Amino acid sequence: MANTKPGKNKLEDKVAIVTGGASGIGEATALLFVENGARAVVIADIQDEKGQKLAESIGKDRSTFIHCDVTDENQVQSLVESTLQLYGKLDIMFCNAGICSLGKQTVLDFDPDLYEKLFAVNVRGVALTLKYAARAMVEGGVKGSIICTASVAANLGGDIYTDYSMSKCAVLGLVKSASVQLGPHGIRANSISPGPVATPLMSNAMGMSLEQVEKAFESTSALKGVLKVKHVANAVLFLACEDSEFINGHNLIVDGGFITPGK
Ligand SMILES: NC(=O)c1ccc[n+]([C@@H]2O[C@H](COP(=O)([O-])OP(=O)(O)OC[C@H]3O[C@@H](n4cnc5c(N)ncnc54)[C@H](O)[C@@H]3O)[C@@H](O)[C@H]2O)c1
Repeated sequence: MANTKPGKNKLEDKVAIVTGGASGIGEATALLFVENGARAVVIADIQDEKGQKLAESIGKDRSTFIHCDVTDENQVQSLVESTLQLYGKLDIMFCNAGICSLGKQTVLDFDPDLYEKLFAVNVRGVALTLKYAARAMVEGGVKGSIICTASVAANLGGDIYTDYSMSKCAVLGLVKSASVQLGPHGIRANSISPGPVATPLMSNAMGMSLEQVEKAFESTSALKGVLKVKHVANAVLFLACEDSEFINGHNLIVDGGFITPGK
């Protein structure tokens, strides 16, 4: 515990990239990283206006928005290269960009085209961002931390979102493999699995306002209260900083003790 950083300074001098950083869990995490002393946080997303605004609100000296579609290998490579040019190194990669099923995807009516579109973001995109981050860390001799966003859907399965659940199982497999392969370089790879959180992703998938989403899930946690993006961001911060220095290949579930709706 000797080198554990006190209070709000857990990421002193660290340089981080957050994919899907313009909204929801990514946005909350980017802000928490800055609050915890990160030297720089790069917001990577396809929502240019939101991402620009967020980076500007943090300040030019501490944050940059870079347009990056994580399904495009050239854009991911360029994201990591630009980060190295701007800030000299990469310590933390939060592979978080993701989408929900693009339609009702039951096993009986499985649509392979929709599945491929979803896997392009949730699996290919995460593997690509992890790949270029890991390369930068290995080549730079950085003992970094990579965190990927999975979901409780990987453990629970999905009622209508089969491909989403499958994609998050794939993220767990990727992270386990990365933890074994990168561990010898001193690089850690872990995942977080949030329960349902009111973000634009959930609100669009359910056709409800953020408030209605919170209401719909408020009794699904064993703990009283509602899961918020800040709870997930706190877990990501823990995995990013030295407090978790010997935790590798772990899937941290953040759901307050999820109770399947209706049970
Ligand atoms: N909200 C939940 O209930 C919940 C639960 C478990 C896991 N998750 C996961 O959390 C992650 C973040 O989602 P969120 O809930 O904050 O939703 P969100 O919609 O608020 O944020 C997702 C972000 O990813 C970006 N994005 C989508 N496709 C992209 C692409 N191709 N390239 C780059 N960026 C892209 C979006 O523009 C958006 O800003 C996702 O991986 C999601 O699967 C969410």
